[in-house]
Amino acid sequence: MCGIIGCVSDKDCCGALYDGLKRLEYRGYDSAGIAVLGKTLSVCKKKGGVSNLSGFYAAGGTGIGHTRWATHGAPSDANAHPHTSGGFALVHNGIVENYAALKEELEGEGEVFSSETDSEVIVKLIARYFEGDFLGAVARAVGRLEGSYAIAVICEKFPGELVAAKKKSPLVAGEGRGGLFVCSDIPALSGIADYIAKAEDGEFVHIAKGEINFYDRALRPLSKTFFRTQEELRGAAVAGGGYFMRAEIAEIPRALSDTLSSLEDKDFAPCARILRGAKRMFAVACGTAYHSALVFRDTVEREAGIPVVCHTAGEFRYRPALVGPQDVVVAVSQSGETADTLEAAYLARSRGAFVIAVTNIGSSTLAAAADFTLVMRAGAEIAVAATKSYNCQLLCLLYLAAQLVFFKKDRFPDWFSALSSLAEGASAAMDCFSETDRLADCLKKARAIYYLGRGTDLCTAREGALKVKEIACVFAEGYPAGELKHGSLALVEEGFPVICVSTQKNLLKKSENALAEVRSRGGFCVLFSQYREALADSCAQFSCLLPILPEPLMPVVSVIPLQYFAYKMCIERGLDPDKPRNLAKSVTVE
Ligand code: F6R
Repeated sequence: MCGIIGCVSDKDCCGALYDGLKRLEYRGYDSAGIAVLGKTLSVCKKKGGVSNLSGFYAAGGTGIGHTRWATHGAPSDANAHPHTSGGFALVHNGIVENYAALKEELEGEGEVFSSETDSEVIVKLIARYFEGDFLGAVARAVGRLEGSYAIAVICEKFPGELVAAKKKSPLVAGEGRGGLFVCSDIPALSGIADYIAKAEDGEFVHIAKGEINFYDRALRPLSKTFFRTQEELRGAAVAGGGYFMRAEIAEIPRALSDTLSSLEDKDFAPCARILRGAKRMFAVACGTAYHSALVFRDTVEREAGIPVVCHTAGEFRYRPALVGPQDVVVAVSQSGETADTLEAAYLARSRGAFVIAVTNIGSSTLAAAADFTLVMRAGAEIAVAATKSYNCQLLCLLYLAAQLVFFKKDRFPDWFSALSSLAEGASAAMDCFSETDRLADCLKKARAIYYLGRGTDLCTAREGALKVKEIACVFAEGYPAGELKHGSLALVEEGFPVICVSTQKNLLKKSENALAEVRSRGGFCVLFSQYREALADSCAQFSCLLPILPEPLMPVVSVIPLQYFAYKMCIERGLDPDKPRNLAKSVTVE
C-alpha cells in the first residue's frame, strides 16, 4: 500500500526522506516521489523504484515523501505523489471515494488536473480554502472527503511546518535525532525516531516551531503520550544482499520461542468469563491470516466443541451473519492495520460481541480496537509475503484454543505441553529444504499446481498455494483432496504437479487415494508427511519427511517447506520474493 513520510528538521531532510521511503518499500508500491521545501518547492516523482529518486537532491529541512500503490490511475510519473497546487505539496495514502464529484466541482471552477489520481483533489481543495491559516485549510479540505486518508502537506509560505491528517489509514508522528516526522507506520521510523505517538481518526498533526502538536476534528489541542519504539519492531537485517523473505523463514524458530514466552506471561483472566461462557465464535482475517483462522476453527470445534464461523474479513463486513452480544470474534492480522479486518472488528464490537485481536503489532489500530489482544513476537516482517508471522499466528491461536478447552473442560489438551517443542520442530522442518530445492528445480516451469489436503491439512495446502501464487506468479489452488474427483481432476494431465500435505493418521489413506487418482492420469505427485509408512506406501514420485509433533500442532511446521518452496520457485523464475507483483504488505484500503 502507499506509504507517506514527512519531516521537519534543522538539517537538509532529502536524505532522511529517501531513507524513510526505502524503509517503506516493503509495504509494496509502484512509484515514488519527494518534495522538499527550501527557498522554493522542489519535487521529484517517478514511476518505479525509490532508487529512481537517488539522483535527486534539494536543500531544505521540510519535506514529504511517498511510495504509491496505484488505485486511481496507472503507475506513471504524473500520477506519482507529491501533488502540488498553489504552493502546497501533498502526499496521500487511502482512497477518496467521492473524488469524481469533487473533481467535477473543481474543474467547473476552472481547476486543471495534471494526474488521474483521486489524491490531487485534496491538494486543490486545500489551495482553494487557504486564507492564511495552513491547518484550517487542511481541516476544511478533509472535511469534504469521503473514504480514507493519511495525508502530509507542506506549503511554500510555511517553511518549518507540516500538517498531517488521518481517517482510516494509519499515521504516526515521531521525534528523533534527525528531526520531527510523520509516517504511515512505526517500523519505517525505526532507528530515526525514538518516541512515537499515534494519530486517531479525525485528528490532525501540526509540526511547527520545533514541536509536534495534535488537534481533534474541531482543532482543539490534544495531549498525547509519546512512547518509546519497541526494539522488536526494528527491521530484520539481511546480510550480504539476501532477501528478507528468506531471512524471515530462517527466523521462524526464534519467533516461535519469543511468541510462546510472551503468551506464557499473558494473563487470560480478563477474558476468562467470556471464554467460559462462549457458545459460538467467529474468526475473521484476510489472506494468510485467514488461513490461520481456519486452523483455529478446526482446533476449537474439535477440542472445545464450540462452533466457529470463519470468514474473510471483507466478506464478514457485508454479511455479518448473526453476530451479537453473546459471541466472541477473533480478528487476526499481522499488521493490525488491514482495513477489512479493522472494519470487521468494529462491526463486531458495535453489535456487542467480545473481540479478541491476534496481531504482531501491539500498538496497532486493531489492538486498540479489541477487548483483549494477543501479541505475537514475530518481530518486524518486511517481506510482503507473510511467513514467520503465520507460524506465530498459529501458535497464538492454538494457545487461545487451549485456554478455551481449559475454561470449558477444566483441563488443557494433551498437546498443550508440546507447544514448547514447536521451535525445535520448526528447525527440524528446515531439514527438508535441500529436497525442496530439488523440487523447485523440477517444477520451476510449472504453469499451475494443485495443493491438496484434508482436515486441517487443507488450511496448510491453501496457504502453500497462496504463497506460490503471490511470489512465484504460478497459478495454484489449495483444494480438499476428496473434492478433486468432483471437477478439478479434469485439468490433471501428463506432468501436472499436485502437492499433498498429509499429517493426520486417520486421513492418510484418503489423501493417498487422491494422489492415486492423480498418478493414474499422469500427474506428478508430491507428498509431505511425518509418517514414514505413508511416504513408503505412497504412489508419489517425490516425498518429504516432516518432523513429528502432536498432530494438532503440525500446521505450524508442515507449512515451512511450502513457504520455502514458494521462495525457491520465485528465485528459480528470476523474480524478487520481497517485491511481488501488484501486492502490498499492509492493505489499508478496502
Ligand atoms: C500473504 C499476505 C497477505 C496478508 C493479508 C492480511 O502472504 O501477506 O495475504 O496475510 O493481506 O494482512 P494482515 O495479516 O496484516 O492483516
